[in-house]
Amino acid sequence: MKPKQVTLLAIETSCDETAAAILRGKLGTKNPEFKILSSVVNSQIKIHKKTGGVIPEVAARAHVKNIVPVITETLSKAKMNLDDIDYLAVTSGPGLIVSLVIGVEFTKALSLATGKLIIPTNHMAGHLYSAFAEKPAKTKFPVTSLIVSGGHTMLMTLKDYKHSKVVGSTLDDAAGEAFDKVARLLGLPYPGGPEISKLAEKGKPDFVFPRPMLNQKNLDFSFSGLKTSVRNFLNDNPKAKKADVARAFEDAVVNTLVTKTIRATKKHKTKTVSLAGGVAANKKLRQVLADEAEAHKIAFTVPSFDLCTDNAQMIAIAAYMRLLQGFKPVHYDKVQADPSWELE
Ligand code: KG4
Ligand code: ZN
Repeated sequence: MKPKQVTLLAIETSCDETAAAILRGKLGTKNPEFKILSSVVNSQIKIHKKTGGVIPEVAARAHVKNIVPVITETLSKAKMNLDDIDYLAVTSGPGLIVSLVIGVEFTKALSLATGKLIIPTNHMAGHLYSAFAEKPAKTKFPVTSLIVSGGHTMLMTLKDYKHSKVVGSTLDDAAGEAFDKVARLLGLPYPGGPEISKLAEKGKPDFVFPRPMLNQKNLDFSFSGLKTSVRNFLNDNPKAKKADVARAFEDAVVNTLVTKTIRATKKHKTKTVSLAGGVAANKKLRQVLADEAEAHKIAFTVPSFDLCTDNAQMIAIAAYMRLLQGFKPVHYDKVQADPSWELE
């Protein structure tokens, strides 16, 4: 096949960020070759801070208000109009249903009006591929990827960009969810992850929290027991320093995630370990996993901070990868929001 160029407009509204991005990439080349031409993220963090978490209806209303301005800004930053776009990509799951439907139905309306076909895109595939935004052609396979977000904790292996498999996941709370819940126990604002990691820098605990499921051979995680341990500890030690608790909690999460990830790299003969998702913005986790990868002579890749939390660049990249995998964009009547669309 002769290399061909495609331009994608990607839209993301799966939780509390309204985002759009434009990607231009080549099809028919040996390696992925693409460039992000523009990207806009409108975060609702300020709105949800007031209530200590995301209230779905509030998030949905904000998406409705923001989606048109975000898309028009994305087009104008790239000095483009809709005529320059070949395909529309949209996050169709997983996520909050009332948030997802705004992006999905808007994209379908855009498709109806313009005749452009749609690439429904998985949000977790977006996080997965965000780690390869910089130099996709340089990646050494096989890859083991740790994806840690507010809703998911997953270990995946990639034989190449076309073949990936989930090899471990959480049995209950996701890592980001644990950060958010423990932050609430400590009286910290939403979202809890960044608050805990800031506080943890000052902590010097003389106690430890359990490392969930480390003594089990599988590659699965469980964080709800750890949250309960923190709650019990706070009940028994009401005068404990918050910074110490934050540090001991962060250490337990990081230690568990890194240990299981390194185990996965051994089992799957990994050459590159990648880290992605909102919790990948955690400095401690980035540092410890980078050090461990180096100690095991494995390359390490992690997205820049702005690509860790939700954005549409990652959705554009995942949609482009879907095209490389042979996916044929579909008519709008084939597209539906699917809040529980799990990666296989
Ligand atoms: O990927 P993301 O933006 O949304 C989902 O797809 O869920 O992830 C959001 C999660 C939240 O739970 C937030 O607390 C966590 O990522 N997070 C962090 C940090 N920054 C964001 N967790 C730990 N340390 C951070 N620095
Ligand atoms: Zn996400």
